[in-house]
Amino acid sequence: MTAIRVLPDLLINQIAAGEVVERPAAALKELLENSLDAGARDISVQLASGGTKLLKVSDDGHGIGKSDLLLALARHATSKIATLEDLERIASLGFRGEALASIAAVANLTLTSRMRDSKHAWSITAEGSMVSDPKPAAHDPGTSVEVHDLYFNTPARRKFLKSEATEYAHCDEVFKRIALARPDVAFRLQHNGRAQWHLKAQEPDQRISTLLGDEFSAAALAVDAHSTGLRLTGLVGLPAAARGVRDAQYCFVNGRFVRDKVLAHALRQAYQDVLHHDRHPAFVLFVDLDPARVDVNVHPAKSEVRFRDSQALHQFVFHAVTRALAGPVTAERTGVPAQEFAHAQTPGDNRTAVDVRSAAVGAPNQYGVGFRTAQKPAFYDLLFARTGATQDSFSQPSGEVPPLGFALAQLSGIYILAQNAQGLVIVDMHAAHERIVYEKLKTQLDTDRIAMQPLLIPVVFNAERIDVATAEDHAETLAEIGFEIAALSPTALAVRGVPVALKDADAAELARDVLAEIREFGAGGVKSGVLTERQNELLSTMACHAAVRANRALSVPEMNALLREMEATERSGQCNHGRPTWHQISVAELDKLFMRGR
Ligand SMILES: Nc1ncnc2c1ncn2[C@@H]1O[C@H](COP(=O)(O)OP(=O)(O)OP(=O)(O)O)[C@@H](O)[C@H]1O
Ligand SMILES: [Mg+2]
Repeated sequence: MTAIRVLPDLLINQIAAGEVVERPAAALKELLENSLDAGARDISVQLASGGTKLLKVSDDGHGIGKSDLLLALARHATSKIATLEDLERIASLGFRGEALASIAAVANLTLTSRMRDSKHAWSITAEGSMVSDPKPAAHDPGTSVEVHDLYFNTPARRKFLKSEATEYAHCDEVFKRIALARPDVAFRLQHNGRAQWHLKAQEPDQRISTLLGDEFSAAALAVDAHSTGLRLTGLVGLPAAARGVRDAQYCFVNGRFVRDKVLAHALRQAYQDVLHHDRHPAFVLFVDLDPARVDVNVHPAKSEVRFRDSQALHQFVFHAVTRALAGPVTAERTGVPAQEFAHAQTPGDNRTAVDVRSAAVGAPNQYGVGFRTAQKPAFYDLLFARTGATQDSFSQPSGEVPPLGFALAQLSGIYILAQNAQGLVIVDMHAAHERIVYEKLKTQLDTDRIAMQPLLIPVVFNAERIDVATAEDHAETLAEIGFEIAALSPTALAVRGVPVALKDADAAELARDVLAEIREFGAGGVKSGVLTERQNELLSTMACHAAVRANRALSVPEMNALLREMEATERSGQCNHGRPTWHQISVAELDKLFMRGR
């Protein structure tokens, strides 16, 4: 066995560099964070060859004094914390005191800095373990760190570098994350001498649009929620705009981009109900909380955090995002000024802590209202019993046009055409109705059990033995979700009652599907048992049975009833599978089609 020995400093730093600066983008992140910690308002980045040849970050921050320059490159030397208490409530991005030392160990690094009251700057250069003495230099107040030939002295690491384009792409991503977190700071990025980004200090919404594109902002809802000592702001993408790939997903905690399981889970849950499982929503969310409530000293790259009370945070984020997504039809999406609808909010609707606004570009700061209509017509009676109500009974007080407008006609037995203040509204009637029934069932089950409609004449059908056994084993679960299904023989079942909302569905078919699902997922009570997780899937299956089928002719009052019910239903903008239930075509778009007004 060889003797144990203490490693030389350079090797220690090179080992640390493996974790801290695993690729050029990681070095860029550290340099940008240092600039922000120094209070910079204007930061510019120059890269060459994806950051491997040159990586230079210049800022106008508070600078480093001549006597501190060497310390800045020393390991475990930092100006950001001094005690354990500081470590437990970190307000800066850096605190480990090792980023510059690590970078200097695997590259040639020049650090030039000038404090505001100095006549000129001082500069030092590190090459391997050699660091030069400070020399006078020309530089505006602030700091520049210039990194040449990353990994020149660690060939093994260099081999892991990907193509220039790939390394640049990672740098670009890091740049975007930092720029998203600090819209109040101006940033510039150049690659191989060409300008890539030039961002002035902006409003948060504008910064998001600039970096992620207007399409992102146009298809997103804003979140702004707070609870004691906690704040969540940002944009969540509309489910209908979700894509097959996981791209624009940004979470920041106290200004730091993080990958966090608690936040990711809360978001997944919030979207679960409105998004098909293989789609990924886009979002940019900022969590701000007391630094004492979050531990950032978890990982060398500082990209993970631990929350002291993750349960509470999970609930908070889940509810805030769920509420944002639940806005049925926002006033702005239909272009009607929000205040006109203020009176239409359900009294006692406890939404004051959460603002839901559409983030349509051009009106970034205008708050819309996720409103509910004042009266809810007895939709099912109207839709199925055909009471012969007239359109007038759906008119809003004071003659306003409701957000989804008034029905004009039915198209192809599938779509409802309606007119609102903006122009034409097209509704997929099956998808919309399915969502309405589904939300009703969920609400009923949340409050108690689903109301049952006893059938005057039970529906008897031949059943598989396994279905009969399931019906007998899970009578209580079935009752909770509004069914009474009795075994007549080992191969025959009688449906004696179905959920009120589903009374027009084919009872035998519905019963078969529900029994199959209960069997597959296990039961033990919908609310208490294994089925809890699958409850929504079960309700969604049920809703599909009840929803108006294609080719069913609807009268104008029936169509209007459906539109009003959509306005009153949470999440009615998407069907249970995340597809949109309606589309707006403005008069301007129609004019364009016909080349009018040119
Ligand atoms: N751009 C800058 N402007 C002013 N001071 C700087 C700048 N970059 C680095 N420093 C100073 O150099 C010190 C060392 O920086 P370094 O990045 O190595 O460590 P850190 O930021 O304290 O912690 P971490 O390793 O977590 O980044 C900092 O604490 C800071 O005082
Ligand atoms: Mg740092």
